[in-house]
Amino acid sequence: MEKANRLTSYRHDKSSARMEEACSYSPGGVHSSIRKLPQDIVFSRTSGGYMWDIDGNRYIDYNAAFAAIILGHCDPDVNQEVFNALRDFDITGVGTNDYEIEVCKKIVTYVPGADLALLCNSGSEATYHAIRVSRAVTGRAKILKFQGGYHGWHDYVLMNIFTKPENIGQKDPLSAGMLAEAVENTTVVEFNDVGAVEKELKTKQYAAVILEPISHNIGCVLPTPEFVKALRDLTEQTGTILVFDEVITGFRHGLGGYQSVVKIKPDLTTLGKAIANGYPCAAIAGRRDLMSQFATAGGPVYFAGTHNGHTVGTAAAIATIRKLEDGKVYHHLFELGDYLQKGLTAVADRLGIPMYIANFGSIFTPYFIDPSFGPPRSFKELLRNDMEKDTAFRLGLLEKGIFSVPRPMRRMCLVAAHTREDVDFTLNVAEDVLRKLR
Ligand SMILES: Cc1ncc(COP(=O)(O)O)c(C=O)c1O
Repeated sequence: MEKANRLTSYRHDKSSARMEEACSYSPGGVHSSIRKLPQDIVFSRTSGGYMWDIDGNRYIDYNAAFAAIILGHCDPDVNQEVFNALRDFDITGVGTNDYEIEVCKKIVTYVPGADLALLCNSGSEATYHAIRVSRAVTGRAKILKFQGGYHGWHDYVLMNIFTKPENIGQKDPLSAGMLAEAVENTTVVEFNDVGAVEKELKTKQYAAVILEPISHNIGCVLPTPEFVKALRDLTEQTGTILVFDEVITGFRHGLGGYQSVVKIKPDLTTLGKAIANGYPCAAIAGRRDLMSQFATAGGPVYFAGTHNGHTVGTAAAIATIRKLEDGKVYHHLFELGDYLQKGLTAVADRLGIPMYIANFGSIFTPYFIDPSFGPPRSFKELLRNDMEKDTAFRLGLLEKGIFSVPRPMRRMCLVAAHTREDVDFTLNVAEDVLRKLR
C-alpha cells in the first residue's frame, strides 16, 4: 500500500491552470453537472482505492465514480480482459456476439427478477426503456417515484432529488427545458410511505412504480421490509409495473442485487455502474412477457443504440462478475463497511458529535443527525441533517486526501481494493477534522 504520509500539501495550482483551459473548450470544463468541485481538480491517474491529480495529490477515493467502481480503479484482471477482447473484436453493429450473450447469461442467472436482459450503455437509458415498456404494456401514462430517488437525466424522472424544504410535496424538476407533460405525469411521494403509495395506486392508474431499493442518492436510506412488501402487493393488485432501479445496488450489494436480499421480485430491473467496474455497460432485465415486448423480439417497443453491448463494457462486465462470483469481494466489502461504520460512530461518540452513520455493505453515509432518531427512513427525515457541518466535514477530509463528493448527504463507497489501513487512516483524519468542527 502507498504510505499515507506520502500525501503532499494540497495545492491545486496546476489543476487550476488546466481547468481554465478545459473551460475554454467545454462549458464549465466538466462533462457531468455533478462533477464540478469547489476546488479545481484535474485528475491524472487512478489505481485501486486511490486517485491522483496533476499537482501530485493523492486521494483515497470514496466516491468510486459515483459507485461504478466496485473492485478498485484499473483492476488488472478487468483491464486485461478488455485489452484481450479488443485485440480481435470491437463492434459489428448487427447480430450478436459471445460477449453480449455471456453478460446477459450472468444477469439472468443471478438476478431473481431477470428472465431476459437487454444491454445499453447507461443507467439513464435503462430507466428510460423501463418506463417506456411499462407505458406500452399498461396503456397508462403515470409514473410514481420517490422523493430523493435519482434515476437518470431524462424528463420522466429528473425531479425531486435534493429538494429544498419549501418545495417538498411539489413538483421539483431539476432542469429547464423539461417537457411539462412528462413532469405532470410523474408523481412523487416519500420513500417508505406505504399509505401514500396505496392512496396513489388505488385512486389513479399508474404505469409503473420506480425506486432505488435502497435510496442511495440521498446517502443510505434503507427500505422497511413492510414497504417493499407493500410495493409488491399494491403493484400486483393494481396492474402496475414494479421497477427496481438497481443501477447502484445491483452487483454492488450482491450478485442478485438488493432484490435478492429482500426477496422481492420486481417486474423490471435496471442495472449499470458496478456491473462492469466502471466501464460503460448497463442493462434492463425483467419478466419474459415484458421483455418480449421489445422490438428486438419483434414486439412494439423500440429498443436501439449503436453502442449497445459494446465490447469494452461487456468484456469488463464478464471479468467483473467473474471476480464477484466466489463471494470473497462481498465478504471483504461488508466486513470493511462494518469496521468503518463502527469506527466512525466511535469517533463521533468520543467527540460528542451527534452523527448517525448509515450503511449497507460497501456504501455508507455519515449524517449529522441525532442518532437517537434511529435510521432515517425518508428525505423529509434527512432535513434534520446539519448541512453546513456535513459540507465542512467533507471539505476537511478532501483537503487531507480523502475524497467524497463535498456536498451533504452524498453516499460514500468502499471498493474491494480499500484496506483496513485506508480505513484507519480515514478514521484518524475524520477525528481530526471533526474535532476542529466541534
Ligand atoms: C439509481 C440510479 N439510477 C440511474 C442512474 C443513471 O445512470 P447513468 O448515470 O449511468 O445514466 C443513476 C446514476 O447515478 C443512479 O444512481
